[in-house]
Amino acid sequence: MNAIYDFSDQCGIVTGAASGIGKALALLLTESNADLVLVDRDKTGLEATVRACKEIRADALLAVDADVSKEQDVNRMVEETLVRFGTIHFLVTCAGILFRNNFTDISLPEWDEIMNTNVRGLFMCNQFVVREMLKQGNGTIVNVASVAGRSISLIGGVHYCASKHAVIGITRHMARELCAKGIRANAFCPGATSTPMIHDNLSADEIKQLKKRIALERLAEPEEQARTIAFMLSDAASYLNGACIDSNGGSVML
Ligand SMILES: NC(=O)c1ccc[n+]([C@@H]2O[C@H](COP(=O)([O-])OP(=O)(O)OC[C@H]3O[C@@H](n4cnc5c(N)ncnc54)[C@H](O)[C@@H]3O)[C@@H](O)[C@H]2O)c1
Repeated sequence: MNAIYDFSDQCGIVTGAASGIGKALALLLTESNADLVLVDRDKTGLEATVRACKEIRADALLAVDADVSKEQDVNRMVEETLVRFGTIHFLVTCAGILFRNNFTDISLPEWDEIMNTNVRGLFMCNQFVVREMLKQGNGTIVNVASVAGRSISLIGGVHYCASKHAVIGITRHMARELCAKGIRANAFCPGATSTPMIHDNLSADEIKQLKKRIALERLAEPEEQARTIAFMLSDAASYLNGACIDSNGGSVML
């Protein structure tokens, strides 16, 4: 993966960095000279990402083992970032979960679990980080939503779909409210991407059928999604605010 943008002198947080899109982004931003705080509740996966990043560049990396649905963990994430780097220039919220249950079979605990990570957790990460960004008068945020937030989910249940619509709503509202204070916020909406979220939830045959609904006839690679997020974070996207960037290979929306 070749770095396109230079994030020297910038420090940012990536949640969900142990796997998939978040891991690919951690590697790309490491190549791009960013000071990075990598966050995930999967400690083993997080350690593997840190090792891979350190093979590219050994310095300026902090790993925080945290569950974004827990207030004290998100507080600790921000505190540890400030202790180590003193500032937060950007935030990318990749941490997310998906369940596939049918509408009538979804229990309230399952509903709450999705919402606690994908919505409440994402909101807390944004709110706690924005409080710091406001002190410095600048910041850039990319919230990872989904094609499911633009239409319906072909994979997840109604709770997943609703959570991703919420991510877009949160992001657009933030963009409007915070832009005068120097903070840009945008939503990134991936289509089916070759990560554990897809491979752990779909059979090989289901993936084959899914590809038929995508104009490019293939899944995205996480590195392709990471490159678009890096653009959204960069100064090249200085006029991008409150946008939803679809990166779905031309999925046929329902
Ligand atoms: N893969 C896809 O096809 C696809 C499509 C659209 C949107 N997305 C979204 O992209 C984001 C990244 O997904 P991915 O495909 O890389 O999935 P993934 O499962 O590979 O990675 C998600 C990461 O988030 C972490 N995580 C989950 N809940 C957490 C929590 N409460 N606290 C801390 N970490 C937590 C997991 O441990 C994991 O490392 C998610 O928000 C997902 O909804 C993925």
